[in-house]
Amino acid sequence: MTGLPPVGPGAPDGASGRLQAREIDLAGGALLELQRGLTGERGLVGASYMERQDLLGAYLLYYWPVSYLQVSLALAQIPSLRGKAPRRILDIGSGPGPAAAVLADRGAEELVLVDGSPRALELALRILAGAGRSRPAEGARGPRIETMALDLERDPLPGAEYDLIVISHCINELWKDRSDSDPSRLGLLEAAIGLLSEDGLLLVVEPALLATSRRSLALRNGLLERGHRILGPCPGSWPCPALAAGPERTCHDESPWIPDEPMASLAMRAGLDRRSVKYSWFAAGRQDPAWRMRDRPGPGPGQATTVLHGRIDSDPMLNKAGRLRYILCHDGFLSTLSAHKDDKSARDKGFFELRRGDLVSIEGAELRAQGNLGLGPGTSLAVIELSPEP
Ligand SMILES: C[S@@+](CC[C@H](N)C(=O)[O-])C[C@H]1O[C@@H](n2cnc3c(N)ncnc32)[C@H](O)[C@@H]1O
Repeated sequence: MTGLPPVGPGAPDGASGRLQAREIDLAGGALLELQRGLTGERGLVGASYMERQDLLGAYLLYYWPVSYLQVSLALAQIPSLRGKAPRRILDIGSGPGPAAAVLADRGAEELVLVDGSPRALELALRILAGAGRSRPAEGARGPRIETMALDLERDPLPGAEYDLIVISHCINELWKDRSDSDPSRLGLLEAAIGLLSEDGLLLVVEPALLATSRRSLALRNGLLERGHRILGPCPGSWPCPALAAGPERTCHDESPWIPDEPMASLAMRAGLDRRSVKYSWFAAGRQDPAWRMRDRPGPGPGQATTVLHGRIDSDPMLNKAGRLRYILCHDGFLSTLSAHKDDKSARDKGFFELRRGDLVSIEGAELRAQGNLGLGPGTSLAVIELSPEP
């Protein structure tokens, strides 16, 4: 990971990365204010909070590494990026640049960062000056970096052709509380897609809060309706079934996470429960005239199944009857996929080890009530891809 400079409310003591008690107290207090202001009552959203040194410092010490991890995990799940280093990057609402840093560490050559906060951009420049050190080739030059202070609600995006455009934890802050926020946000995402190279992609990362992740899924659907390709994490390009399943449903990724210092102490001081990293994301590509939105061609509830491909979309859940269930997103539907907890054949097939985000292929599933699916003795289960580990 790109080296973080010791800036903010207190510099870590170089040897251990630990902050002193007084520093934890100061930075932890600022972290709590940030957490409440961005994901609680959200009073900071839309304000220039990154211009406040204490909040920027707390962001750097805590949210920066979290965003870095989330963007890394999302990118790891996009098949078209395997073995490929996107060269030209635009980071929209970059803040101090965690997403840009991921891409710099993956070998990007040109990074353009835009944000409303000159102070956050200046810090991003300082951090990214260390980027490229982790490149394998000795003496490799770091990327060319450009920063631009602009108001994303008014100013056009800087024109160029980008291989990857990322907007991480920012879209929910734009046009907040405005009646036209959804079309305005969709317009910004479409404008971004318009700047992509032929195979380029747009990555949107958002908090896993119910409201923000549902609005992000609605934007994903909006792009799909306009003919853009959805390139992850969904197992296919159909309208999001989680969004259609009711106002309490959403889709997010979650990976176990043990924070290092000083994040662990800061989280404790701020009273944040951090045993996992949760985020909602999708990737989209340009319009493709040959692309057709798949119109629910799958087996659907209540119909016989042969082979289906899907994504595990929940943690395991045990019901009173002793069946362990996962929610499976497949063919535009959400079904549960279950087996009895003592079922040896399910155990042998690795069913009880499945994790949220795993891509699976299932052949010959048993149909259960309400179109849900069960793993029977004749069902085969293959994990096509494991969800990435932090
Ligand atoms: C939560 S931070 C996300 C920072 C970084 N992308 C990350 O993933 O950690 C949201 C960023 O959006 C920026 N932002 C919010 N509203 C903006 C606007 N109208 N114009 C430009 N930037 C804005 C803020 O300054 C802030 O840096």
